[in-house]
Parts: sequence; C-alpha cells; structure tokens
Amino acid sequence: MEWLRSALLPPQGSAFAKEIDFVYMAILWLSIVLFLGIVGAECYFAWRYRYVPGRKTPHQTHNTPLEIVWSVLPLLLCVGLFFWGLDGYMKFAVAPGDAMEIQVVGKQWLWQFEYPDGTRSVNELHIPVNKTVHFVMTSEDVLHDFYVPDMRVKRDIIPNRYTEIWFTPTALGEHVSTCAEYCGKGHSDMRAKLFVDTQEEYEKWMATGGTEYQSFTPEAWGKIQWDRKGCATCHSIDGSKSKGPTWKGMFGKPVTVKTSDGKTLTVTVDEAYLRESMLQPAAKIVDGFENIMPTFQGLLRENEIRGLVAYIKSLQ
Ligand code: CUA
Repeated sequence: MEWLRSALLPPQGSAFAKEIDFVYMAILWLSIVLFLGIVGAECYFAWRYRYVPGRKTPHQTHNTPLEIVWSVLPLLLCVGLFFWGLDGYMKFAVAPGDAMEIQVVGKQWLWQFEYPDGTRSVNELHIPVNKTVHFVMTSEDVLHDFYVPDMRVKRDIIPNRYTEIWFTPTALGEHVSTCAEYCGKGHSDMRAKLFVDTQEEYEKWMATGGTEYQSFTPEAWGKIQWDRKGCATCHSIDGSKSKGPTWKGMFGKPVTVKTSDGKTLTVTVDEAYLRESMLQPAAKIVDGFENIMPTFQGLLRENEIRGLVAYIKSLQ
C-alpha cells in the first residue's frame, strides 16, 4: 500500500517518518475496515428487515453478550492505539544526549538558527545527513510553531520558555519548514529552507558561516566580530588604553614589537601583520603590552578576518 502512503503523506525525510507513517496508515486502514463493516451491516439490516406487507418483524430490545462485545472490543482497541502512540511520543519527546544542538528563535516573521560554534543563519538551515539534531527553541514575541513536514516533527514555540524537538535526517536535499501557529499577518511567509547536506557539503557551508556576512559591508561585519568574538574586551576603538593596543589609527603606522624569540623590531601594521596577530598573537607583541591574547586560529573564518581587517583600516 506504498502508493496510498506516498499519495497522502509528504516524503519521508527522517528516521521518525517510517514509524509515524506506519501508525498513521494502520489507523487509516482500521478506520476504512470499520467504516465499511458498520455501513455494510447497516445496509444489510435495512434490507433484511425492510417493510414487507403482512410480515411480522420480531421485536427485540436487548442482547447483553452483543452489547458487551461492541463496547469492550473498541475499548481495548483504543487503549492499544493509545499506548502505541505514547511509545512514539516518548521517543520523540526526549533527545539523545549526543545530538548536535541548534538553537531556534522564532520571531515575527522569520526563523533564526544558531549553531554550536555561534554561527547564525536566518531562514536557512543546514544539517548533515544521518546526524541526530536537537532543536532548542524559543520565541521573541508571540506563539509560533516549528513544523517540518518531511521530518514529521512539529512543536509550538513559546516566548519566555524553551521547547525542543529532535530528529535524524535521512533524505538529502532541500526540505521546507514552516510556521504552523497563526502569528500575525506575515504568518504564511514565515518559512525556512532546510538543507540536508552530505558531511562535505555541510563542512563547506560551516566554513563560510552561512550567508549572514553577505548582508553587511566588510567594515560593518568586522565591527560585529569585534563585539561578538570578544575583541572589544581588550581593544578600544576610540584611542583609549586597554589591555591591548587600541585599533584607532593603528593601520599603516609603524609599531615596535617584541618577537616570540626575544628580538625587538619595527613593523608596519598592514593586512599581513593584523592577520598574524589574530592567528598567532604571540609572534609579535606590541611594545608595552603583555602576551595575554589567546589565539583565534580556528575561531575566525576568512570572511570574519577580512571584516576585522577592513574595520581596523576604517578606524583612522
Ligand atoms: Cu510564526 Cu505563524
């Protein structure tokens, strides 16, 4: 009966889908069989005991065994279905501990996703195939509902509270997620594309950190990084002294530095020096400062480094 399932239900995108569809189809078939049986019996009795002139219809008010059977059997059936559904629900409710965690924020009218490394994306989500993903979700304004039909998951998103869902994607390619709780005039536009990538595609996407950077100039993107990556803690942008050299007016100027092997040099602050100072801060420490900066190797993407350099250049 695969044809009926695929005609009625969206493609199966997660490990949940098979199980949920099986319960769905079992209940559907049970309903079809019971419907035909009940309507068939009604039709038969209506015909069998139809009015025939002169025939005496037997008068019957009770049949205790029959009444017990048609009360107890459906009761057992319903209780059975309840526990079958409960079993699936319990599995669905608790995410495995080793799942990759993604934060979901719903707001009028967009979806924001945040990855374990701080990468953010809007209305676009990439996850690797066959990896269990756990979504921790909240709303910044009103009720929303995160619904991914292909994955057979759906749960309300509530302000000031966290709700969760999880699944293991099995089908590569693009899937749709949408808001399933009426949330205002933009409700029907509140959609996100969910891409299930191969491991290589996923890593490639993560390396650029999504598309957020494309909506900023390099300088503006650099300023965001200055704040987000913690540069602001030690580097001022207004010339004031802090734990590290101020960024104001630094670019293009000569500075005296101490190299990691103890030499004293004069270098010009250019792109190469800035890049080296982010990735190997200890290599050349500006005279008068301590060697306290942690390395940002692996913590900054190319577009973030470019942004920071552009931002420092702009601070003249
Ligand atoms: Cu958000 Cu409907």
